[in-house]
Amino acid sequence: MPSRLPAVHVTTDGVDELDVDALVVPVFRGAIEAPGAEQALRALGLDEVPRDASFRGRLGEVLDLAAPGQPWGRVTLVGLGRMDELSPEQLRRAAGAAVRHLAPKCRTLATTLVLVRPGLETVRAVAEGALLGAYRYDDCRPERDPLRLDDLTLVVPSSLAEDAGRQLELARLHAEAQNIARDLVTTPPNLLGPADMAEQARALLPDAVEVEVWDEERLVEERCGGLLAVGRGSSRPPCLVQLRYRPESPVAKVALVGKGITFDTGGISLKRPSPIMEAMKGDMGGAGAVLAVFAALPELDVQVEVVGYLCLAENMIGGDAQRPSDVIRIRNGTTVEVMNTDAEGRLVLADGLSLAVEDDDVEAVVDVATLTGAVARALGKRAAGVFANDDDLLRQLLTAAESAGETLWHLPLWEELRDNLESEVADLENLGRGDEAGATMGGLFLREFVAERPWAHLDIAGPFWQDADRYHNPRHGTGFAVRTLLRWLELAGR
Ligand code: BES
Ligand code: MN
Ligand code: ZN
Repeated sequence: MPSRLPAVHVTTDGVDELDVDALVVPVFRGAIEAPGAEQALRALGLDEVPRDASFRGRLGEVLDLAAPGQPWGRVTLVGLGRMDELSPEQLRRAAGAAVRHLAPKCRTLATTLVLVRPGLETVRAVAEGALLGAYRYDDCRPERDPLRLDDLTLVVPSSLAEDAGRQLELARLHAEAQNIARDLVTTPPNLLGPADMAEQARALLPDAVEVEVWDEERLVEERCGGLLAVGRGSSRPPCLVQLRYRPESPVAKVALVGKGITFDTGGISLKRPSPIMEAMKGDMGGAGAVLAVFAALPELDVQVEVVGYLCLAENMIGGDAQRPSDVIRIRNGTTVEVMNTDAEGRLVLADGLSLAVEDDDVEAVVDVATLTGAVARALGKRAAGVFANDDDLLRQLLTAAESAGETLWHLPLWEELRDNLESEVADLENLGRGDEAGATMGGLFLREFVAERPWAHLDIAGPFWQDADRYHNPRHGTGFAVRTLLRWLELAGR
């Protein structure tokens, strides 16, 4: 269960009136004081940022200063980075870094971060960063002291005080949703198999979301050959979860499809042991993000009808596991020669995408998947690749990501490479001969199952997981894509 978020509110009081465990004030790179910092430093008897410290105001750096005799237990300087790059994301990151640092030890915080760039977008970004920074995965350590932070105050100019409330609420809903995805990705795979994911959908989603689960027997009846093939090597059967959110008078209908491999050993095409094998517990990060999005839709009052497909299986090496060279049949009738059992995500997604486009009312389909190591090699760990067969949808997603502070980078679906998916014995093979452009080959394979419906594919194999703490994200499951998708649906519903 995601931990409870701290309360957030705004005040127009001066900093000297704030009685808190820590006052967080911003400093630009080069130790240039930003709003609130000068006043706080003067109160501590300092006329500038302490010179001896290694603190220079780089984005996310923090420095705690004792504050004897002041209303604040301490003053924490937080770096904003360069002044000329100032953006809502920079403020989100600074807030996140400060709160991640302070949440274990302080119960109450206040910050002047909003004053750096006053506006409603900033209120939202700072609240989001702060709430996201107050997260830790503690499910397997029930005896550990929980994070102490339970109250956060944002100092705002009086012009924003009235309208800030809605922004705080949006920030909370987005952060809560992202935390669900973070928890699911980080949960150990012995505790989260396909059926457990389905159970989590039932447990976590509000009543306004319909949940239907197809078990293995139903998958046979429904001819979902991709899910069945990938799930065969595991003693825990695959399943498909269908989610539906319907506002009273929807302005559009879209589908979200998530890759939900609860652990990916590679199957018989076994992965070589490597430090990334442990991260394969998060190979359900796409499905986790889709599930998490549904958690927020009703309260966000999104005006779009959304259907979701969580394609859940465990890719193991049991005696009945699929073999390289097996030919399977996907829901839409396409036969696939399985050349590499480690390219399993596209097989389960093929069933999900086929189902999504069976509904003629669905105007756009977006899938989210930790699909290829290749995308992470190309783009690194900070950005996801986005592929699309529709420019409009692509633009909408890029805009949403920009506003969420998540980086999507457009990658090509080169027609020329489509030939590499041809198989001698089946309609397609799952690997793509030629061993080039791995992320594109994944996208081209998936495109075969969307019947030319507007579609986009987010390959989140880079950013779904982090080995080190960064800004508002503590290491491990990040919940990447949740806020981008929520922004997209909010904007599409206007
Ligand atoms: N889940 C992996 C991709 C992955 C790798 C995600 C690293 C996150 C971090 C996926 O199922 C996979 O194994 N892909 C193969 C595809 C190849 C066999 C065509 C890969 O990336 O090597
Ligand atoms: Mn794999
Ligand atoms: Zn995988």
